Amino acid sequence: MTKSGQTNKPNNPPAQAETHETPSINRRSLLAGTVGMVGAMMMRTAAQSAEAVAPVVPGDATRVPGAAPTAYGQRSPFEQAVRVPRSWWASLTPLQASHGMLTPSALHFERHHNGVPLIHPTAHRLMIHGLVERPWVFTIDELKRFPSVSRLAFIECSGNSAIEWRAPTGQTVQQTHGLTSTSEWTGVALKTVLGALGVNPEDSWVLAEGGDAAAMTRSLPLAPLLEEALLCYAQNGEPLRPEQGYPLRLLVPGWEGNTCIKWLRRLKLGTAPFMTREETSQYTDLMPDGTARQFTMVMEAKSVITSPSGGQRIHPGSIEISGLAWSGRGRVAQVEVSTDGGRSWQEAVLQDPILPKCHTRFRLPWRWNGQATIVQSRCRDETGYRQPSRMELIAVRGVNSVYHYNAIQSWQIAADGQVINVHA
Ligand code: CO
Repeated sequence: MTKSGQTNKPNNPPAQAETHETPSINRRSLLAGTVGMVGAMMMRTAAQSAEAVAPVVPGDATRVPGAAPTAYGQRSPFEQAVRVPRSWWASLTPLQASHGMLTPSALHFERHHNGVPLIHPTAHRLMIHGLVERPWVFTIDELKRFPSVSRLAFIECSGNSAIEWRAPTGQTVQQTHGLTSTSEWTGVALKTVLGALGVNPEDSWVLAEGGDAAAMTRSLPLAPLLEEALLCYAQNGEPLRPEQGYPLRLLVPGWEGNTCIKWLRRLKLGTAPFMTREETSQYTDLMPDGTARQFTMVMEAKSVITSPSGGQRIHPGSIEISGLAWSGRGRVAQVEVSTDGGRSWQEAVLQDPILPKCHTRFRLPWRWNGQATIVQSRCRDETGYRQPSRMELIAVRGVNSVYHYNAIQSWQIAADGQVINVHA
């Protein structure tokens, strides 16, 4: 196809043209549904480009009135940390710019397999069927009538740090570790809903299916799901973000992110795993002997120094070493930091509250003497599991895996203060 003859007709998206031709804002705003949501997305895009315009800063902010309240808040225009794409279907949280243990919803990492679907909340349904006494189809409003539960939990893609298996590839901690984030999640306990429908928890599996264009499906053993899994409709005090599964997602605290099926539309109960593509060709761990581990759900203990980290530059003198530790099996019990390439280790301070299956902030004051060195962190969780060194991990797993890389991360500090990812 040639462009000739088309040059005078820019290919406007239909929604944009529609908005332009519609004079009645009131009537338009009353319309629920796709058009309104596309409009909201366009406003967000406009706001993002406005963010890029340099703000006019008054010489003395006490001499001029400040801005009026806004309908939906934005951060200061001077703050620029953003998610960066890892691929078409993933983006990474800027951990190097993080404080405390919470991830802002707008910076929570994304992983989807065929884009973020636009789903109307009143049209969405969750069907629960299979080996259940009373199969049922729920609306979101019906699910909200069950007792609600809120908890903080990290979600980590099992492919987090996958690029580190063979070589020190990530230049920043965002690239090496940015597929993990922590939010407060609110929903209804899965056991509450399944209890109302009647299930037999013995030897049972659940197929969880998303309503996205990938129809993502995973088989999950039922018994552990009944302990902690939530059917979530809210994140950090507001409805889920679209990229986090709006209007409904499964949360299985401590399990690989892919099990926390987003845009959840179906749960089917059975007696065996359903062997979908995502647990046969994908999300398995190829071992050195050619066999593959399957249904490796738990994200084992892991830690990383976020400051100083790759791409940053430090100066001689006092700094604070700070980072995040987490375990899919419970609480972080201890984090140690080495500032001499692993020859000696010092115990870091853990910031309260130390919550199970949740990012935990650690820190250690340090005086850098200006000599080249390597800084590392390693953690231990409350089960006694200790984060492995890279050599320990590879001795068992080899380098054929994609998923579940949780080795100690080494940051080399050069004599000029530049921080570089190395495998030590
Ligand atoms: Co796995």
